[in-house]
Amino acid sequence: MKLTTKLLAATALVGASAASATELEVTHWWTSGGEAAAVAKLAEAFNASGDTWIDGAIAGSGGTARPIIISRILGGDPMGATQLNHGRQAEELIEAGLLLDITDVAEAQGWRDIINPISLLDSCTVDGRVYCAPVNIHSWQWIWLSHKAYADAGVAMPTNWDEFVASAPALEAAGKIPLAMGQQPWQSSGAFGVIAVAIAGPDVWKAINIDKNAEVAAGPEMAKVFEAAANARAMAANSNVQDWNQATNLVITGQAGGQIMGDWAQGEFQVAGQVAGVDYECLPGLGVNEIISTGGDAFYFPVQSDPEVEAAQKRLAALLVSPEVQVSFNLAKGSLPIRGDIDMSAANDCMRKGLAILAGGNILPDGNQTLSPDTSGQIEDLMVEFWNDPNMSAADAQAQYAEIIANAD
Ligand code: GAL
Repeated sequence: MKLTTKLLAATALVGASAASATELEVTHWWTSGGEAAAVAKLAEAFNASGDTWIDGAIAGSGGTARPIIISRILGGDPMGATQLNHGRQAEELIEAGLLLDITDVAEAQGWRDIINPISLLDSCTVDGRVYCAPVNIHSWQWIWLSHKAYADAGVAMPTNWDEFVASAPALEAAGKIPLAMGQQPWQSSGAFGVIAVAIAGPDVWKAINIDKNAEVAAGPEMAKVFEAAANARAMAANSNVQDWNQATNLVITGQAGGQIMGDWAQGEFQVAGQVAGVDYECLPGLGVNEIISTGGDAFYFPVQSDPEVEAAQKRLAALLVSPEVQVSFNLAKGSLPIRGDIDMSAANDCMRKGLAILAGGNILPDGNQTLSPDTSGQIEDLMVEFWNDPNMSAADAQAQYAEIIANAD
């Protein structure tokens, strides 16, 4: 009965859209080929429900888009809805009362009963009130490998990080870049986090990123991680691209062996017509420990004075979590759905691996959920320096890292 009541209430929220069509400007940073294909699914669904999606794509990825989005909201020029990573990025906006409380939508749809893992909803919740609609789970914990690159170099496709490292000289001899890496700060920082989980293990990652334990950050397990990162830096030395999807394209075209990147990379393989297991491989946890991190994207709804806009914001929130949108959007995006009660049988091999790991519960939160944007920014700055300066030693970088963790919030 409880579920029926909730379904009816949710239907009423969604169904209300037909009565009053409203335009909502929606900002996001989904501008690569795969991302654009995925966001189009959201726009189509919103338009089909009777409202109008005004697309506010901001080029240049999250690092560029977030400051623009946040300053618009702070500066009194709020959009109708915006993407952010669920976690701590919106903390200050919520504290300032600038984001709409959508608890009524969450309750009407029974989000506490359907969202999985529940940490996604917790990341949207402050003092018991819900401020965002999570749309996906995006895991950072992957390396994407090119069949063509390994075939051209005449070496076997690696099955784990050690084999990947061992195959690098053969790739270089064949004129390939072993590791594709773009120059945006978040890319090297994200890759470093993946290397840390694979080499030092999830407990060390948690001690640092959740408990902010500076001793562990300065300790011997992380020393191995920094050595591995220095190795990765050398393997990426000839990767001169800027954007993450340009780096993915090096893998798609077989110019590079692999890329450590979140599973949004799947969208790029998909639009390029590549098939998992045939053209590319994906190793969760770098093939060392099959794990996924459960960060991702969520939509927030800046407070507006017009009650019609507020009603449309709530209709969009309800729609984003609906089973139909969850299936169509996540299949295009390469992300995992935020609910387990939907049919993902059309998922490709890599998504299936992710779904199986999620079901098995070997999951970690994302750094965006555990570290403040300020701390994440400091780590990104350090990583830019480290990855760009081959003379910066692993030990020096580790000392600075431990200092950041000592002061982290
Ligand atoms: C992440 C976002 C993903 C993906 C990626 C690259 O922050 O969660 O959806 O788009 O950026 O743009």
